[in-house]
Amino acid sequence: MNTAAPEFRAEQVKRSSVPRRLRHILALDDFEPAARAFLPRPIYGYIAGACENGQSLSDNRQAFAELSFVPKILRDVSNRSLARSLFGVNYAAPFGIAPMGLSALAALDGDVVLARAAFRTGVPVVLSATSLTPLERVAREGSTRWFQAYLPGEHERIDAMVDRVQAAGFDTLVLTVDVPVAGNRENNVRNGFDAPLRPSLNLAWQGVTHPRWLLGTALRTLAQRGMPHFENMDAYRGPPILSRNLTRALGLRDRLNWNHLQRIRARWSGKLVLKGILAASDAHLAQEHGVDGIIVSNHGGRQLDGAISPIKVLPEIVAAVDGMPVMLDSGIRRGTDVIKALALGASFVFIGRPFLFAAARFGEAGVVHAIDLLKSEINRDMALIGVDNLDRLEPSALR
Ligand code: GLV
Repeated sequence: MNTAAPEFRAEQVKRSSVPRRLRHILALDDFEPAARAFLPRPIYGYIAGACENGQSLSDNRQAFAELSFVPKILRDVSNRSLARSLFGVNYAAPFGIAPMGLSALAALDGDVVLARAAFRTGVPVVLSATSLTPLERVAREGSTRWFQAYLPGEHERIDAMVDRVQAAGFDTLVLTVDVPVAGNRENNVRNGFDAPLRPSLNLAWQGVTHPRWLLGTALRTLAQRGMPHFENMDAYRGPPILSRNLTRALGLRDRLNWNHLQRIRARWSGKLVLKGILAASDAHLAQEHGVDGIIVSNHGGRQLDGAISPIKVLPEIVAAVDGMPVMLDSGIRRGTDVIKALALGASFVFIGRPFLFAAARFGEAGVVHAIDLLKSEINRDMALIGVDNLDRLEPSALR
């Protein structure tokens, strides 16, 4: 006999409404082993991996584990709401899907699938500059309004790209600022991953030994849409994802500086967000330069190994800016992590890898399930902590 109170049952993800093949997925971390078996090793490694010794990657998790809750009791928490508004838009939950490159290589129509799932569940999704789907199609078919750009320190390329994103109807431009050069991703070298991928016997073997991905993702993509290209690095189309000798013209990324930001700010009329800030002084400078928000991030541990975990610097960054939304990514896997970040002053958080693993292995239904699981965890955790409204979360909830 089920003795749980009706309220308690209602806040769990209703198992009966979850497709059978997803019923063993109980938490975001469950998507990774499912995707690992499904994906060719170079692609799985690119998504899961970080750089050098993976210190920031593991510290991103450890830093959350080191924070403990001090729950409050006997509060009426029956009217819990996960809703959060950001830049004047009301979202169903305080989290969104972070930008991830090559989603359409890992998952069939990955960029559109992530966008549709986010739209259906009322959360934002950020389209990556390294995506393989023209941003205009993702805007149209996925209703995405957030685009993440990598811009070089070159005026013509900046202007052309900003104009393209604007013309496609995006309203929020996220400029990633922690990539003056590529991170040292040794795992990609070890796994035979490159972007574009180089045809090789190893790559062919990886395809043959992962037949569900080969047939269901790679060959279906080729049949339905042709060879994917880097579509959104610039105002023009980049090279194909598979090429023996083409390289990507990344441009003068290491020249990008605050003067370029001024130019971008003047040209872009929508919301402007900087992603990859870890220093409070940079957060302050960003606000002085007229940005609308920042994402405190160490790029999921993929750029500078040893870069501090965002949750550790969040309080000082929140204190250094005046009312500007401070968002955070890197290391969030649980509802409790989301709540810890909000309690320390984050306006919103983003999560990447688990959603892409979900899309790769289970398509749109998998991403919806992932979002529902996280919502359900937050809902439960709010009750256990003793708050019914996310705005009431305070640093004193944590030690
Ligand atoms: C792209 O941003 C990556 O981290 O691989």
